[in-house]
Amino acid sequence: MILAPSILAADFLHLADACKIINESEADWFHLDVMDGRFVPNISYGMDFIKQLKKVSKKFFDVHLMIVEPEKYSEEFKNAGADGLTVHLEACQNLHRNIQQIKSLGMKAGVAINPHSPVILLKDIIADVDLVNVMSVNPGFGAQSFIPYSIQKIKDLKILIKENNSLAKIEVDGGVSLKNAKQILDAGADVLVAGNAVFGSRYPKETIKKFKGLKP
Ligand code: DX5
Ligand code: ZN
Repeated sequence: MILAPSILAADFLHLADACKIINESEADWFHLDVMDGRFVPNISYGMDFIKQLKKVSKKFFDVHLMIVEPEKYSEEFKNAGADGLTVHLEACQNLHRNIQQIKSLGMKAGVAINPHSPVILLKDIIADVDLVNVMSVNPGFGAQSFIPYSIQKIKDLKILIKENNSLAKIEVDGGVSLKNAKQILDAGADVLVAGNAVFGSRYPKETIKKFKGLKP
């Protein structure tokens, strides 16, 4: 299981401390949520922020773009330090082209789907992507409640991946906690994003250890 703590939930006045926690912990990836105030009703941070974090971080940068026209910025996010770049199905007019562009820049390419988008919409792109982010909350904010029907979506996606001989990893993003993580892994998730569950906890490193101890 890959654990990707979301820096969105960290204390922005002490980001170096959050990086240190992730570096020294058993966490695998950094999850970085970019919001533009258009695709989602919130604005977070952009490439300069990511570039600074990259200087003090040792792990894979999993950048989740919740922005319109993401293709305009792929190269800048690559230069800022993104190792993986995920765009939203709902934000792309030419998803296939965007995925190829991300790969040609040398990054892992991901596609994210909002809670209202059925998994079947990924049928023709699934063999081309490295990751699918199943949003289990409506994107835009941390610390929301996990939407229960996401479990069925993960199961459906697992089948779609197998049927198409895809190597895509399933990432689950939003409302993931130590309470529901086992159920999410059992449904077929490979990557768990955890914001509030990690950085809202008293001892983040211990919490990460507990997540990593879970077995599907
Ligand atoms: C929501 C973001 C998530 C968020 C998860 O739009 O995509 O990555 O940071 O935060 P939690 O784990 O607190 O729901
Ligand atoms: Zn995210």
